[in-house]
Amino acid sequence: MNESERTMAGAFSSVQISEHVYWVGAIDWELADFHGYATPRGSTYNAFLILADKVTLIDTVKEKYTGELLDRISSVIDPSKIDIIVSNHSEMDHTGALPEIVKVVKPEKIVASPKGVQAISRHFHGTGIEVEAVKEGDTLDLGNMTLRFMLTTMVHWPDSMFSYLEGDGVLFSNDAFGMHLASTERFVDEVDPWVVRYESAKYYANILWPTSKAVSAVLKKVHSLGAPINQIAPDHGPNWRINDDIHLVMDWYRDWTEGKSNPDKAVITFDTMWGSTAKMARAIAEGLGAGGMTVRMLPLQKTERSDLATELLDASVFVAGSPSLNSGLYPTIADALTYIKGLRPSKPTIIGGAFGSYGWSPAVQKQLGEWLTSMGVELPHEVLNTQYVPSGDDLEAAVEYGKALAAARNAD
Ligand code: FEO
Repeated sequence: MNESERTMAGAFSSVQISEHVYWVGAIDWELADFHGYATPRGSTYNAFLILADKVTLIDTVKEKYTGELLDRISSVIDPSKIDIIVSNHSEMDHTGALPEIVKVVKPEKIVASPKGVQAISRHFHGTGIEVEAVKEGDTLDLGNMTLRFMLTTMVHWPDSMFSYLEGDGVLFSNDAFGMHLASTERFVDEVDPWVVRYESAKYYANILWPTSKAVSAVLKKVHSLGAPINQIAPDHGPNWRINDDIHLVMDWYRDWTEGKSNPDKAVITFDTMWGSTAKMARAIAEGLGAGGMTVRMLPLQKTERSDLATELLDASVFVAGSPSLNSGLYPTIADALTYIKGLRPSKPTIIGGAFGSYGWSPAVQKQLGEWLTSMGVELPHEVLNTQYVPSGDDLEAAVEYGKALAAARNAD
């Protein structure tokens, strides 16, 4: 723990979230980027303390916030009274504080999934942290309460798991059902619903979209839990405690895992060198609009790639534009598409198009179309490009291109 952390001692308190559970996590107001994902609203690293006969800590926080975690625990109980630590996921936003916490707490037991045991040993070399593996459906006797474990492989990493506290009915869902949102509010029903929807979708698109099949399997497990879920306590953002909200987020997740699209939503993203590709983008938007679509125009000069991913989550048309630069894609487009391709946005209902201006390398827009195809976007029409500055006829062709894409979407 560094000196500035020590001087904050006593400043932070816990929040009781159910009869036996306290939130003891950390609020990261400064976080701007989470492995490539822009987080202008910051985040939280949630940890939870169960005051059972066997006092149990669920997850820890990023190393930088070890002092805040200890402070919040101390507002409830002497940290040395913790008997058990559960690590639902080894990524450092949840285990960074683990070595220091283990030194302070000296728990009788630390548990994680079998992959979690391996991952923790591969993260904290030489610390001597010993972790016991728990398997799917295993339970842990806390004396007067019981924890049940559900392996949730690839939601988000191979080691991920959920823990469920019988009695209070709290599902500790780690990276699922969360959002990157720093707030003083600890419950979803206290936060602006628009922010909850956008940040939940952004989190899904940027963290869980690549593993939608795994998420879908986990949703089925949650539905067949056979015990009431009174609260979902994720490791990022506020908790879901209202029954209707719990159903709502489950429904959102079902739609996202199934790749459900809004048939009227089109996303255009582009960058431009001398304004020609931008003119084409505006004309294509005009055509899509005339074809009955709502267009989200996302110029890369002012759009974070993670917001582009979010908008694509429920789009049915995706159009990308790039000028030719040195016989290749414009760097911002290459960056965005590399990122989006990693998210594997393939879904049954997305079509798209590619466009742009060139000087002497017309193959670049074809290359852009091939990028989209490789991402699972079906291109019903040839790519559209124009040399140097688009003429009035070229722009009319771009309007028609937009209309044709809207019609192709309607035909599906
Ligand atoms: Fe919140 Fe995969 O860590």
